[in-house]
Amino acid sequence: MFELKTTFPENFLWGGAAAANQLEGASNVGGKGLSLADVYIFDENTPKKNWSDQWHLMTHKQIEEAQDPASEKYYPKRHGVDFYHHYKEDIALLAEMGFKAFRMSIAWTRIFPNGDELIPNEEGLAFYDRVFDELNKYGIEPIVTLSHYEMPLHLTTKYGGWVSRKVIDFFVRYATTVAERYKHKVKYWMTFNEINCVVHHQYVSLGVIEENHPNIEQAMFQGAHHQFVASALATKACKESNPQAMVGCMVSYQLLVPYSCDPDDVQATVDKQRTSLFFTDVQARGYYPAYTARMFAEKNIVLKTEPEDEQIMKDYPVDYVSFSYYMSGAVSAHPEKIEGAEGNLLTGGVKNPYLPSSDWGWQIDPKGLRTAINQLYDLYQKPVLVAENGLGALDVLQEGDVIEDDYRIDYLKEHIKQIKEAIADGVDVMGYTSWGCIDMVSAGTNQMSKRYGYIYVDQDDMGRGTKRRIKKKSFYWYKNVIATNGEQL
Ligand code: BG6
Repeated sequence: MFELKTTFPENFLWGGAAAANQLEGASNVGGKGLSLADVYIFDENTPKKNWSDQWHLMTHKQIEEAQDPASEKYYPKRHGVDFYHHYKEDIALLAEMGFKAFRMSIAWTRIFPNGDELIPNEEGLAFYDRVFDELNKYGIEPIVTLSHYEMPLHLTTKYGGWVSRKVIDFFVRYATTVAERYKHKVKYWMTFNEINCVVHHQYVSLGVIEENHPNIEQAMFQGAHHQFVASALATKACKESNPQAMVGCMVSYQLLVPYSCDPDDVQATVDKQRTSLFFTDVQARGYYPAYTARMFAEKNIVLKTEPEDEQIMKDYPVDYVSFSYYMSGAVSAHPEKIEGAEGNLLTGGVKNPYLPSSDWGWQIDPKGLRTAINQLYDLYQKPVLVAENGLGALDVLQEGDVIEDDYRIDYLKEHIKQIKEAIADGVDVMGYTSWGCIDMVSAGTNQMSKRYGYIYVDQDDMGRGTKRRIKKKSFYWYKNVIATNGEQL
């Protein structure tokens, strides 16, 4: 009755994660349309800036400039690392590490280039057939995110992004198309990457362009509501195509702790943590949490819903809860009174004096991962997947193709230890797909030099380089971790 688990389960999904827009490149190949990600601007002057301004809101003018080669603001599209043409080589490397799972996303714009067509693009569908077949050849389970920060640009400029209810139908058409096409090849799905980021980065998460929405808070939650309904309908589509399918939600989860035991700090922490938990509450339970009414009243938010929405969300909650975890944060009700504890945009908190930080100021807290896993499991009693975790760092390629990324090994090792602790705590942890298993373009900075991978890619911030793949020290380390099912770290 009380079985203590001291090892990782036999079927644990060891692997890594990536997103189409950061990995694939070939943004104008195979009939692909432009996505939001294709027009991000890389700012060479602020190389260490997190989550650049365009992640929040862009204007129509900026979008036009980014697409106009004559403009000095022109950015030559997301170059990725050309996985589109290197996928066989890349998957062979993942297989060499012993990957059991590869979390990847489908670029919506390869399937429906503008988003609102009726007929899908066969070339795009065929590309993912080849990728899934290749993964299958090595027994690697694909875990597929339907929307990872890259809706078709056309849905943004023409319809106003997710604030428009019409986008639900376009997304469901896309989800149904891929669910049906890949029903024999994909079992694990995720609907929206870091869905809670609608409250942090409206452009990238919602497809909202600045001048469309003077009341941005209303737009955020209206768009989120549409994503909830779309996610439930996509879950339905995946399960109708394959009753064995497992569909998960995905939230960016930064564990937040009170800066002090002052009751105001404690309440502020509860409130702030709900900017993440609100989303898992809806998607894992299938209904809005009790605190929604008050939260909406205080923000003057009045949602437009349809009578069927409640039932749809109730009928199709997710099967598992997945999340990204890079850091934790501390919350103070009075941050202005804390000397030296500057605000952290990503956690919405202040600096925790007990924790070290990465080169980009992300506060490293492995023990917080154990707490986060336990919290999510206690709340929903559904399997948990650690869908992203990792250290963005400046790697040095030494002579003889050597990359000694011991700092990355240390980071990952300490986090994996805590997953093992969470398993011993009794949590059903499905797997661990660390972020950026192959180096790729960083989402928040658009940089190549912020690397996460076990595999180095010879390419610089402007997309120049041979794109040669080189194994880092962490490659061999992770290979052994997987081979020993997490016993040797
Ligand atoms: C997550 C995203 O938020 O963080 C990824 O899902 C992203 O797309 C990752 O790459 C790391 O962020 P960054 O900005 O360092 O690439």
